[in-house]
Amino acid sequence: MTYVVVENCIKCKYMDCVEVCPVDCFYEGANMLAIHPDECIDCEACVPVCPTSAIFRDTQVPAKWAEFVELNARLSKAGWPQINEQKECMGHLEDGKSRRDLLDERPFEG
Ligand code: SF4
Ligand code: F3S
Repeated sequence: MTYVVVENCIKCKYMDCVEVCPVDCFYEGANMLAIHPDECIDCEACVPVCPTSAIFRDTQVPAKWAEFVELNARLSKAGWPQINEQKECMGHLEDGKSRRDLLDERPFEG
């Protein structure tokens, strides 16, 4: 089992999640974070602190975001840098609008 970051994080990145993760298993893309499935210890600490409710247990990801299970697994191992300190949020997008097409799969470059 693992936890998974979904679409709500895209172009947002509040990063409250990285502050509470005891094993630093978040990785940072250009406009989204991903959780490494082999490093996550399923503690659930990140779930309540995300302001956009963007983190789910892999077995409970809503069907419309099912692809994010694979995306987290792939992108967390795709050279994205590990992140364990909160930085400035990217901003907010209007609720109800799909952000899936905005996902940038490139690694974050500071
Ligand atoms: Fe980290 Fe726990 Fe969230 Fe997994 S469930 S990403 S270990 S805070
Ligand atoms: Fe993203 Fe929520 Fe963390 S918006 S960066 S999953 S706190």
